[in-house]
Amino acid sequence: MKVLLLLVSLAVGLCFGNQVRSKRQALSDALRWPNNTMNYYYEDGFPLEMQAMFRDAFNYLKSHTCLNFVNNKDAENAVYIRNRVSCWSALGMRSGEHQELSLDYPCAHFGVALHETMHALGIAHGQARTDRDKYLIVEAEDHNDYINEDTTLSVPFDYGSVMLYWRTERRFPKDPEYNYTMGSLRVGFYDMILLNEYYGCNCEKHPVKLDCKNGGYQNPANCDECTCTDGFKGQTCDELDGHILSASTEWRPLYYGGPYSKTLEKSMAPKNVFFHVTVSTDYLQEVLSKKTLFQAPEGSTIEVRTTRLEGFFCHFTCDWNGVELKYLTDRRMTSPLTCCDDDNLWNKTRSSTNNPFVIVKYGEDKGPRFQFEYRYLPGNLTSS
Ligand SMILES: *[C@@H]1O[C@H](CO)[C@@H](O)[C@H](O)[C@H]1NC(C)=O
Ligand SMILES: *[C@@H]1O[C@H](CO)[C@@H](O)[C@H](O)[C@H]1NC(C)=O
Ligand SMILES: *[C@@H]1O[C@H](CO)[C@@H](O)[C@H](O)[C@H]1NC(C)=O
Ligand SMILES: *[C@@H]1O[C@H](CO)[C@@H](O)[C@H](O)[C@H]1NC(C)=O
Repeated sequence: MKVLLLLVSLAVGLCFGNQVRSKRQALSDALRWPNNTMNYYYEDGFPLEMQAMFRDAFNYLKSHTCLNFVNNKDAENAVYIRNRVSCWSALGMRSGEHQELSLDYPCAHFGVALHETMHALGIAHGQARTDRDKYLIVEAEDHNDYINEDTTLSVPFDYGSVMLYWRTERRFPKDPEYNYTMGSLRVGFYDMILLNEYYGCNCEKHPVKLDCKNGGYQNPANCDECTCTDGFKGQTCDELDGHILSASTEWRPLYYGGPYSKTLEKSMAPKNVFFHVTVSTDYLQEVLSKKTLFQAPEGSTIEVRTTRLEGFFCHFTCDWNGVELKYLTDRRMTSPLTCCDDDNLWNKTRSSTNNPFVIVKYGEDKGPRFQFEYRYLPGNLTSS
């Protein structure tokens, strides 16, 4: 735990720093990489564990977009990846240059490697969006907090975006429920949509149109399948990924104690009410993270509340681990993340008409344990 604390406290000061040569953090056509291909190469002796983070980040991006990453130091334009002080990148492609991108030990993480790569691809910070003042209070700005007039707003503001900074006393969400959501090192579902729209990645020319369910969309990386929101899988995202739990009209508890726990409830009753639980085993592969779901009769409302959080690493952001009760109707959007139980934010009852209601536990699987309660409120089913 000491090591973790040290890394995190250093990361606060150093992480995500964005190298800005001009003050304008523009997103314009000129900054896109031609042929959807970002060239890169590492400096001699660049640590292998950091190369692994970029490999995973590139693989993540390649499997969610039409982008390619080519190791080519002879290309006219390329990203020169180095281990310098702090983590930063130029914004967008710098024509005719070998632009630098730095990853440093205190901020070395898959999510940061991906964040900096997104900068190199032309994506600005979440707090640089022109609509950010609707969602954030930003009292003192450094260059990382400037609004960028050229940001595209093709996706809604998401507190869970990997491009949004953590909360400080001078940069915090208008809605305090998102106090621990800002600064996420998970990749927001909308982050990949933004990138796909920016680079024109889509499946419009693909002969087969898939009817993707539950917020999914046809994957530009492989148009024969859909990209699914958390908790769903299968070609059209109509399969539940995780363990199913049944809700009743009474509150039921579920205690999740890690991969060797035998406390998992798998009740089959009542009809058409399912609950689905799994837990992430690898923080760096959040896309594979296990999910929790259940189903209730049509027209009903599902309620979930967290009642215990144990062993989670709790600080100013739930970047390392946490629980997401995905109650927002838009399954693509990040709902408030919790990992700390020392205030009144973590144990709110969340209601949703989404069926199933998805719960995500993410982060280290072995230590953290949590308990939640769930039930459904019946809808008006009698009239027909
Ligand atoms: C475009 O990128 C693809 C994949 O990296 C590559 O095979 C192809 O040669 C590139 N085309 C041009 C014109 O650079
Ligand atoms: C949310 O964060 C802000 C800024 O750090 C703080 O002033 C506020 O008290 C927090 N709200 C809650 C409910 O924790
Ligand atoms: C939520 O947790 C706080 C702090 O432990 C507690 O004071 C409060 O009563 C809890 N609220 C509910 C609704 O359980
Ligand atoms: C059920 O019907 C009542 C009376 O028509 C209405 O007030 C209520 O909003 C309905 N509830 C739902 C969940 O549709």
